[in-house]
Amino acid sequence: MSNDELRSSVMAALARVVHPRTGQDLVSSGHVRDVEVQENGEVRFAFALQPDDPGDLVKVARGTVEGLRGIAAVKINVLLPQMGGSGGGERTGGLKPGSVPAPTPRPGLLSQVGHVVAVSSGKGGVGKSMLASNLAAALASQGAKVGLLDADIYGPNIPLMFGETRRPQVTGAEGKEMIEPLQAYGVRLMSLGFLLDKEQPAIMRGPLISGILKQFLEQVAWGPLDFMVVDMPPGTGDAQLSLVQSIDVDGAVMVTTPQDVSTGDVRRGVKMFERVNTRVLGIVENMSGLACPHCGELIDVFGSGGGERLATEMGLPFLGRVPLDPAVRTAGDEGRPSVVAAPDSPAGQALFEVTRVVKEALNALEVG
Ligand SMILES: Nc1ncnc2c1ncn2[C@@H]1O[C@H](COP(=O)(O)OP(=O)(O)OP(=O)(O)O)[C@@H](O)[C@H]1O
Ligand SMILES: [Mg+2]
Repeated sequence: MSNDELRSSVMAALARVVHPRTGQDLVSSGHVRDVEVQENGEVRFAFALQPDDPGDLVKVARGTVEGLRGIAAVKINVLLPQMGGSGGGERTGGLKPGSVPAPTPRPGLLSQVGHVVAVSSGKGGVGKSMLASNLAAALASQGAKVGLLDADIYGPNIPLMFGETRRPQVTGAEGKEMIEPLQAYGVRLMSLGFLLDKEQPAIMRGPLISGILKQFLEQVAWGPLDFMVVDMPPGTGDAQLSLVQSIDVDGAVMVTTPQDVSTGDVRRGVKMFERVNTRVLGIVENMSGLACPHCGELIDVFGSGGGERLATEMGLPFLGRVPLDPAVRTAGDEGRPSVVAAPDSPAGQALFEVTRVVKEALNALEVG
């Protein structure tokens, strides 16, 4: 089949997918745009997601195209409505072939942020918030101006990890109000938790957030920052995807534990970032062996090294390992990041090392 024939079959298949609410097909409704077929059988297109679209619409479109004969791979660039609707969500996608990518200025107040790095994982409880807090605190302890955005819409807990229970202050004249981030250990903190009604069912929060997140971010008085660390909610669904695009993340750090390496969660996480053209900086293995509280020696409880193997397999950098360390839990309970409470503990040392490697990876993005 020629590329043109393949493209026609893709268009025809997508034109048979009917939007369950509007009854229109995905091509006439304008959801699917810029369908291209590469020489190697890879299909690329943009998908303009609308606020009231069902959560799995992109997945349905992907499945439809993947099922066609002659298709080797499918790359979808999801465009979200809050990015202005004109494809602003892509920093590098959407460029005409041959045109020179101009540096895209960050929108709103994030224009004053040097690097935005998201800490993510496919599943919950692997240590994202722990890593995000320590990354932020370690960078701040080295003199950088750092912001930490708790983007966990399901269980925001960054303020507690920093011992902060205050509500942020609102300053400025009427109509020009700004939200002041809280500050602890040199890190400016803001949590989406402040936005949310605690009684609201978690399922309602995704759509709510994607609608108001951008405005919220522009009204936070972050000031100039060298780094903004974003603690992501667990999972790889639309809510997470929409967050990544609204925040305009430069690079993502994926966290896994030795037990979770083989579950496919990391792969799904990496795919999510790829779909929105966001670079994955690499993988960190957390809870990698137990640091003995008495002698500091590492005990390999669940087996370690899987994170590194997975990184190699996926062609991603391995960013380091952090042992399971009682000092982490104690520090968390005290509301202090481990790099502050126990900088010389095995986890503290490992976290400084991961910070160094992440910093290097971010700097390499600028050059590369
Ligand atoms: N290296 C470690 N050593 C000891 N305890 C750890 C370590 N990493 C994380 N923990 C503990 O494990 C728990 C889960 O960690 P954390 O909250 O950072 O995970 P998470 O991925 O952010 O979870 P969620 O998906 O629920 O947001 C916390 O109680 C944390 O203190
Ligand atoms: Mg968390």
